[in-house]
Amino acid sequence: MTRAPGRRLGVLVSGRGSNLQALIDAIADGRLTASIAVVISNVAGAGGLDRARLAGIDTAVLDRRGWPTRDDYGRALVDELRAHAVDVVCLAGFMRRIGPGVIAAFPDRIVNVHPSLLPSFPGLHAQGQALAHGVKVSGVTVHLVTAELDDGPIIVQRAVPVLENDTEETLAARILVEEHKAYPEAVQRVLDGHWVVEGRRFVATPSKA
Ligand code: GRF
Repeated sequence: MTRAPGRRLGVLVSGRGSNLQALIDAIADGRLTASIAVVISNVAGAGGLDRARLAGIDTAVLDRRGWPTRDDYGRALVDELRAHAVDVVCLAGFMRRIGPGVIAAFPDRIVNVHPSLLPSFPGLHAQGQALAHGVKVSGVTVHLVTAELDDGPIIVQRAVPVLENDTEETLAARILVEEHKAYPEAVQRVLDGHWVVEGRRFVATPSKA
């Protein structure tokens, strides 16, 4: 089965938005054949919103405190994404859990970037967790989002070495370089179709040439 969704992205950010920038840059130079329909943040002052505005992309701020429950907030997110006819949702440092309503509205259409080689070190401070554990290799994972935190089918992973004298900051910076390559690559793979989810695996299917 071929699964090629539409190519309008909605990007969700909470912070500086360097992965958003990587998507913007990849679109500009043709590595990612998509458009960003809207950038949504739960934080009014997020740097990612400035990057979006600079690139001429629509923005919206949805502060979680504006809705009584997580489900209500999820409905507001879905409404905003649908208002912009979004096909695929990209989490780019969005620091809120995506609820079941949002996942149901975009089945296998939500992508996340995480700074470790999952399933190792899910959750917050993944780079610090890797250092504390003493692993010699870490990296980045881009995956489809499911109800479990940092647990969905893996689309792309890239490894980086952990060095003897690394701090959380130096390791994070080394991983971030790879995030910026892996994220556009993975989103392009999703948009191109020719894949299925089998169990917990993201599997390429042969394309009809
Ligand atoms: C990245 O390390 C990403 O992997 C994690 O949050 C961070 C966001 O950074 N989910 P940025 O806002 O994209 O610069």
